[in-house]
Amino acid sequence: MVKGKVDALLGIVFGDEGKGKVVDVFTPKYDVVARFAGGPNAGHTIIFEDKKFVLRSIPSGIFDKGKLNIIGNGCVIAPDLFMDEARELEASGYDLKNRLHISKRAHLILPTHRVLDRAYEAAKGKNKVGTTGKGIGPTYSEKASRTGLRVGDILENFQQKYQALKSRHEQILSELHYTDYNITEEEQKWMEGVEYMRQFSLTDTETEINQALRQGKNVLAEGAQGTMLDIDHGTYPFVSSSSTTCGGVCTGLGVAPNTIGQVFGIFKAYSTRVGSGPFPVELFDETGDKIRQIGHEYGAVTGRNRRCGWLDLVALKYAIMVNGVTQLIMMKSDVLDGFDTIRACIAYEKDGQQTTDMPYDTEGWAPVYRDFPGWKQDLTSLTSAYQFPKELKDYIRFIEEETETPVTIVSVGPDRAQTIYRY
Ligand code: GDP
Ligand code: IMO
Ligand code: MG
Repeated sequence: MVKGKVDALLGIVFGDEGKGKVVDVFTPKYDVVARFAGGPNAGHTIIFEDKKFVLRSIPSGIFDKGKLNIIGNGCVIAPDLFMDEARELEASGYDLKNRLHISKRAHLILPTHRVLDRAYEAAKGKNKVGTTGKGIGPTYSEKASRTGLRVGDILENFQQKYQALKSRHEQILSELHYTDYNITEEEQKWMEGVEYMRQFSLTDTETEINQALRQGKNVLAEGAQGTMLDIDHGTYPFVSSSSTTCGGVCTGLGVAPNTIGQVFGIFKAYSTRVGSGPFPVELFDETGDKIRQIGHEYGAVTGRNRRCGWLDLVALKYAIMVNGVTQLIMMKSDVLDGFDTIRACIAYEKDGQQTTDMPYDTEGWAPVYRDFPGWKQDLTSLTSAYQFPKELKDYIRFIEEETETPVTIVSVGPDRAQTIYRY
């Protein structure tokens, strides 16, 4: 970690890799923690001292009371959900007012964006994306269409702007013959959320961050979602609607590429995916159920079952390439403690042909596995990499050789304390 730089911590698979936990662990080393993409579709879990928090829009650096946290311009924000999240933190003794700044350029998720999210999903029939229903796609589409409302808009003539956009949404919904909604109560709370947001510093966060960098401070950019859900590099159209990759750090915070320092790529010792879309390593058998059960693989936002499978090195290598990952962080290693054999996908196969490069269309490819003996040992109380069983060391060494990237941290449990540095 170098002063005056932005380090990025990015989920490099399908999200839920454990970003919240690691951002919380890293925060003491940074001056500023900033979210650059996504919104309340994210659910970042942080556990310490027997307390559990799930953050949606607020950066996971918020538990270190001296640090500035920023919701950057690349994010989308729902005032009502933000208010709930912030109030819960305040009730737990974390005062946010002076140390959470929100970009005036971040886009607002309106109640009608959430209805549109449901309506578009309903219209897709069998090809649903399986979104979180938080209005993410419609809000980012609106941003690209140059018709959206931004946080800065709440400072002037807001009611007028809001009503105009809402009417447009109602018109689209009526054209779609989607009438199954009533936002009256939701809208009231949303407006309360807008009032609540006014108490925060709504600023030009890109200027603030760049000033901090010039003063030699360092910034941790907290990713949301994962590379395979990125709008450009993910399994389109089964993706989210923002740039979740390293390029998104630059556009979503307003920092230049040459300010990027370390790029931490975070993944689980196995794979999961929530929602629809191709997932070549998916297990439909007892092993998949066992991973889900032991790993508590149920969505933090929607409670849905996460689809489970073995580690996918094709996806990992692709993500390392597009993000310029400099260090890997392997999470949830303890979940595999009881398995006799652990598998890793080293290539995809279709019609007798194999590839180790991510194909344009991941549908219909079968995984080619390499097997490893399991370590069959409880990792959760280990405190040093010297205590790692040989089988775990071999599994990690294989990942490092295949990806040509060091695995510098191994996580062996959900608590802050269960984090082991290897170098
Ligand atoms: P995020 O969206 O990337 O922040 O990840 P989520 O919070 O959605 O999902 C990660 C889940 O795994 C959370 O329930 C964490 O508490 C939990 N977790 C994180 N690291 C570990 C670990 O090393 N072992 C185990 N067993 N659980 C972990
Ligand atoms: P974190 O930050 C896992 C998935 C949804 C769906 C697709 C599009 O906690 O890792 P959206 O509501 O964004 O339009 O949904 O993306 N998805 C996530 N999956 N973790 C997330 O965030 C996700 N955010 C969105 O399940 O398949
Ligand atoms: Mg999550």
